[in-house]
Amino acid sequence: MAEQPREQWGTRAGFLMAAIGSAVGLGNIWRFPYIAYENGGGAFLLPYLIALLTAGIPLLVLEYSIGHKYRSSAPLSYRRIARPAEAIGWWQVAICFVVAVYYAVIIAWSVRFVGFSVSQEWGEDPNAFFFNDFLQMSDAPGMVSGYVSGVAWPLVGVWAVVLAVLALGVRNGIEKANKVFIPLLVVLFLLLVAQALTLDGATLGLDALFTPDWSAMLDGSVWVAAYGQIFFSLSIGFAIMVTYASYLRRKADLTGSALVAGFSNSSFELLAGIGVFAALGFMANAAGTGVDEVATSGIGLAFVAFPQIISTLPLGGALFGILFFGSLTVAGLTSLISIVQVIVSAVQDRLGLGRVQSVLMVGGATALASILLFPTPEGLHFLDVFDHFINQYGIALAGLVMIIVFGWILRKLPMFQAHTNAVSSLRLGTWWKVALAGVTPILLGFMMWDSVRTELSENYAGYPTGFLLSAGWGLAIGAIVLGIVISLFPWKRADAIARDDAAQEAAGTTTKEGES
Ligand code: ALA
Repeated sequence: MAEQPREQWGTRAGFLMAAIGSAVGLGNIWRFPYIAYENGGGAFLLPYLIALLTAGIPLLVLEYSIGHKYRSSAPLSYRRIARPAEAIGWWQVAICFVVAVYYAVIIAWSVRFVGFSVSQEWGEDPNAFFFNDFLQMSDAPGMVSGYVSGVAWPLVGVWAVVLAVLALGVRNGIEKANKVFIPLLVVLFLLLVAQALTLDGATLGLDALFTPDWSAMLDGSVWVAAYGQIFFSLSIGFAIMVTYASYLRRKADLTGSALVAGFSNSSFELLAGIGVFAALGFMANAAGTGVDEVATSGIGLAFVAFPQIISTLPLGGALFGILFFGSLTVAGLTSLISIVQVIVSAVQDRLGLGRVQSVLMVGGATALASILLFPTPEGLHFLDVFDHFINQYGIALAGLVMIIVFGWILRKLPMFQAHTNAVSSLRLGTWWKVALAGVTPILLGFMMWDSVRTELSENYAGYPTGFLLSAGWGLAIGAIVLGIVISLFPWKRADAIARDDAAQEAAGTTTKEGES
């Protein structure tokens, strides 16, 4: 079968927009504020910054470099580096599958809450509304006991949009969607933050967010949370950036793009923290309580505290709700598109399928899993545990393994440094290798160990052990096993790939510089 030429981004701006669209997501608006708040407030910003500089940006550059050099999906790119490394790629594909299935449902809630904001559907008790009326949440995890149509239909809509965009392709689908969604998101979000900052009591919230609890810095799990947040938020460790960079043209400024994407993402994240906590300060002020009383921890922060705020606002409550939940929806969609694209492109490369076929097959299967499991009374329990385990022991761990395998075992960092420097505006210095192969694995390895210890000493969020073993550890370990098993199957297209490699090498496009 004749190989299709690889798709490409139309412009550098298009790629950057998509990379920022992938990075800026629910992680920034829904996750960052409560993770920062739960992990020492202002003191969290230091581990966060260290994680960004030692692991975030350096790993982002590595992922760009891998995708750009090998111009293939993650498993095939890694296979081209070293045959056994393919397993890491499939592991990351499995991680993307898990993230995609629960990520979509949060976007679906947001879609519904845009509408609810207009009518203030939650009435007097947003907490009871969200957990009981809307999600119909069960008291404890267990066998699926029902189906919640009010969550299901927006979820079907979310998947329809995502699959349609992906089916249209890199340039006509993903790039165009991001060119519309990102400017829209910026406008929505700036309006939201501006409105939040003018509320009475906003500074109370900002004090709560930024007042450091230094004792948190001695807690290993705070550092793991910081690294986890950086990985999730920057979309690194789950091969998204390898995949997106594989559609770059030969001439591409990799370091410049990584800096723009990395700092845009963190600026957006800080802005989200400021907006969310300014609003919480208003709420606390109005209720005459402390911010800690109104800042529901965890998942409920966006869907309980915000409705409360919207109802308390004397003016413009509906607008505030539309801006907030609208931002969540748009930011989430552009990220979900990138997550599913990892799976679609991997299967395309593996089976030699066309884009539409692959979208229908694997995108469809991912959508189906999401639509079957999450609009159920048990859905939120699954979501909570999936999110926790796949972040700490999926994404962050995969990032660590990538660094150890490519940096320590295969010693490929000099090659990627040379490749990156050959095309980029800013040169990577030795600091890059030191940060990536020295600082990050040591910090991350220690923190991972410390976090596992905590995990073993007390059950995450008090869930029953059996549930954590299956839906938490089982899932995280299952993703690794699946990655290894898939990589053991021979590729039918191995010959075509070898021909492609030889052709690229002959054309001098697979650079050999610095190869040790
Ligand atoms: N990077 C995406 C987010 O922050 C996954 O939500």
